[in-house]
Amino acid sequence: MSDLFAAPQGLRTDLAAQACVLHGFALPFADALLAGIAAITAVSPFRHLITPGGHTMQVAMSNCGPLGWVSDRRGYRYSACDPLTEQAWPPFPESFLTLAHAAAAEAGFDGHVPDACLINRYAPGTRLSLHQDRDEDDRVAPIVSASLGLPATFLFGGLARGDKTVRVPLVHGDVVVWGGADRMRFHGVLPIRPGRHPVLGEQRLNLTFRKVR
Ligand code: SIN
Ligand code: FE2
Repeated sequence: MSDLFAAPQGLRTDLAAQACVLHGFALPFADALLAGIAAITAVSPFRHLITPGGHTMQVAMSNCGPLGWVSDRRGYRYSACDPLTEQAWPPFPESFLTLAHAAAAEAGFDGHVPDACLINRYAPGTRLSLHQDRDEDDRVAPIVSASLGLPATFLFGGLARGDKTVRVPLVHGDVVVWGGADRMRFHGVLPIRPGRHPVLGEQRLNLTFRKVR
């Protein structure tokens, strides 16, 4: 089935020297990624984490792989254990690692092996405020971020919070990669507009692969 919500494959938009959008790069993986997300969240369900300041996050999250990103009153950190299940996070499905490795290589980062994958779920109206990914020990290895479902407007800024941001439209299957000198750029997601994606319905899913250690 052709997907009217998806961009054509093979196009690339450079955002900075070591940051780009790979349009449609995840489309060949989409079925496997969605099956993987369903299997993972059957074990480690989506949940709304509490920030150190006591707020409930709008984005619902889960993780897979050796390490998972968590937040609670004690702070933000990576944990090998899901605090809900008190078990290890579900392992990486093979398709996840294949996608992350291939997208990183396509963006100029050869040999990328992530050790964490945060799975974000956005309902319409949900946003993710401007932030840096700074809980990882490795501040150079790329972030590989795959979008599925409803479209989003990604904000991509500079190395300082106040730097100007560009608005990057993302659709089902797009992958954003940023690393090296651009690894610590601020980024965020504007509120998801109401809509219905033909495959995923009223939600956007995002996979963010990182190398933590
Ligand atoms: C993130 O920064 O963790 C997620 C970005 C996105 O959802 O596109
Ligand atoms: Fe992030």
